[in-house]
Amino acid sequence: MKDSKRHISREIGLEIGHILGKGLFKLDHLHYGMWKKGLEPEILNLHIAQDEYCKFIISHIPVEVKTVLDVGCGTGAFSKRLVDLGYKVDCVCPTPYQNKRVEELLGKTSEIFKCKLEEIQTSKKYDMVMFCESFQYIDLDRVIDIAASLLKPGGYMLICDFFKTQSPDLCAIKGGHKLDKFMNLMGQSPFRIIEDIDITPEMAPNIDIVDRTTREVMVPAISAVERFFQSQHPIVLKLIKWRYRKKIEKAEVKYLKGNRSGKNFAEFKTYRLFLCRKVK
Ligand SMILES: C[S@@+](CC[C@H](N)C(=O)[O-])C[C@H]1O[C@@H](n2cnc3c(N)ncnc32)[C@H](O)[C@@H]1O
Repeated sequence: MKDSKRHISREIGLEIGHILGKGLFKLDHLHYGMWKKGLEPEILNLHIAQDEYCKFIISHIPVEVKTVLDVGCGTGAFSKRLVDLGYKVDCVCPTPYQNKRVEELLGKTSEIFKCKLEEIQTSKKYDMVMFCESFQYIDLDRVIDIAASLLKPGGYMLICDFFKTQSPDLCAIKGGHKLDKFMNLMGQSPFRIIEDIDITPEMAPNIDIVDRTTREVMVPAISAVERFFQSQHPIVLKLIKWRYRKKIEKAEVKYLKGNRSGKNFAEFKTYRLFLCRKVK
């Protein structure tokens, strides 16, 4: 029950993020941006940084790959880009809002599995199974075997996502599987890791942007709404604040205590690209 509530709130968070990101800042993707040297980390540049992230991943797709399963494809913008480059791409995504966007973008060119990866039913086999910032959402005890079962012999699994390091989990940004557990599981899996690239420094500035946007946009906006309610419906506001007092306290600690920073992210998380080949 708790997990399903968390899943719904994460999915709604992604939906709101996409509506605001697309409408205000021309953002097509649901992943963070990759901040190359010289690109000022600010929200108006995020679409450029997201584009850099896509280019980085594309540059690591092995030449023999022709068919791709994009797991947790978001709104399908990256899949569309791969289709335009000549790849045959299918998608997996459990979220109706995102699947509607994917269908609009990809039409009949791709099969869309409208379910969690853990529930996929197909006999298709791909050259590559790809996870762009979606690996962390999938059950770590199952995801590697499922990916292997969807690949042709010699196929690839590409993961670009963040993981928790061995430091205690004091990061204000939640999410990410434990890196040491992932490495252990990979050691017993049919895969061999052929590339492992640490891009934490290029990804950490996203957290400073999220933090700045929270402080400079969200907090003043919420405070204005609160003042409006205070003037119109003071009793209702008091009741709402009392009813949700624990959540409000938690949000204040999470968003306003200065722990949400790129520095904090780089201390407790590691953002990696793993290219793995199925060898058994
Ligand atoms: C942060 S978004 C990344 C979206 C996209 N890959 C991109 O780069 O823009 C995470 C995605 O994973 C999807 N997702 C969450 N749980 C999943 C699961 N169990 N199986 C497949 N996809 C899942 C979400 O619906 C969302 O599309």
